[in-house]
Amino acid sequence: LSDLGLIENGALGIDVASGTIEYAGRYASLDRALLSGKCITIDASGRVVMPGFIDSHTHLVFGGSRAGEFYRRARGESYQEISSSGGGIIKTVAATRQASEEELFSAASSRLAQLICNGTCTVETKSGYGLDVPSELKILSVNRRLQATAPVTVFSTYLGAHLVPVERRDDRDGYVDFVIDQLREVAQAGLADFYDIFVDPLAFTLPEAQRIVAAGSETHLGLKLHADEFGDDGTTAWGVAAGALSCDHLGGIGEAGIAALAASNTVATLLPATMFFSSHGVYAPARRMIEGGCAIALATDLNPGSSLIYSIPLTMTLAVLEMAMSAEECIVAATINAAHALGIADHTGSLEPGKRADVIVIDAPHYEELPYQVGRDLIRDVIIGGRVIKSNGQMQLPC
Ligand code: NIG
Ligand code: FE
Repeated sequence: LSDLGLIENGALGIDVASGTIEYAGRYASLDRALLSGKCITIDASGRVVMPGFIDSHTHLVFGGSRAGEFYRRARGESYQEISSSGGGIIKTVAATRQASEEELFSAASSRLAQLICNGTCTVETKSGYGLDVPSELKILSVNRRLQATAPVTVFSTYLGAHLVPVERRDDRDGYVDFVIDQLREVAQAGLADFYDIFVDPLAFTLPEAQRIVAAGSETHLGLKLHADEFGDDGTTAWGVAAGALSCDHLGGIGEAGIAALAASNTVATLLPATMFFSSHGVYAPARRMIEGGCAIALATDLNPGSSLIYSIPLTMTLAVLEMAMSAEECIVAATINAAHALGIADHTGSLEPGKRADVIVIDAPHYEELPYQVGRDLIRDVIIGGRVIKSNGQMQLPC
């Protein structure tokens, strides 16, 4: 987790036609015969060239705003109190049901552009603010349109098991049956790459999650979990046994969960921006997890309630200040380990020949500046699949 494989005085060669990396090594060893006369050169001397960020946990597609809750939490109300008094996820569900697909697409595209500007080259985004047939399909269809139109790679996750909607509160079992049916349909229709379940006293119980996973494991969709967010519910140890690609949040994870993660390939995705923005305060025990041998990823959890945060660099700042992670650990966690959390580490997440050319240039002489300089845009260039999307601080494409 601390090994960046840093190359001083390095050079990177990108084949724009295939969008992949051809050369990654010392500048002095670069074979100039490889370069065509027409090649574009980006001079990054005195700067850091590194893999683009992979934001492996977001909720980009939603309607409305929950700004009011932000200020209520600042005055002392908890996320749970607000959720049980008509606010929280259900407020966004109402606004998302009302919004047209076009409105959702346009709002999500503009959020995505902001993520790209902050150095993110791959994004996972979940449904879960529809919670009925047409609205979940509307969100998943926006995910697929983002995939087709945005310069970044977008992965789609079905999160019908985000919350039991108000109109189904007296029929939880019926709602879980609905999630299972829709999960199968969504997998068949190719509308999602992963599915996710919010296992929490506010949302779904472990036995309910187990029923969903029994059906989900018969599809090709990878499993991701919102696990042990506010307390140790035993979700992580179970999720690891169920073969989850990642368990995310983990503010309340206990020793059994840590031991299970350490002995597995499941990635622990930590979301310190959520703990910060939602005034949760209890950060995941990153040091215990790292020392115990867990694979750690970092993501923003961008969503309207608990983390309206668009920035992996800011997420790193919080990981340093609140979870005592090092700059090196933060960088690995937001690149190659995040790629593992999406099962795509064989072709992205690091600068190696043959991998996708998702590259950022940091406008500073050392990567340590990235989490340290807060509120300053140090992302000078963003290259996604070999295309220059941000150049010299300026976005080149409307998203
Ligand atoms: O990851 N934990 C559940 N879901 C989101 C919060 C969604 C919301 O508050 O709108 C999360 O933090
Ligand atoms: Fe989330």
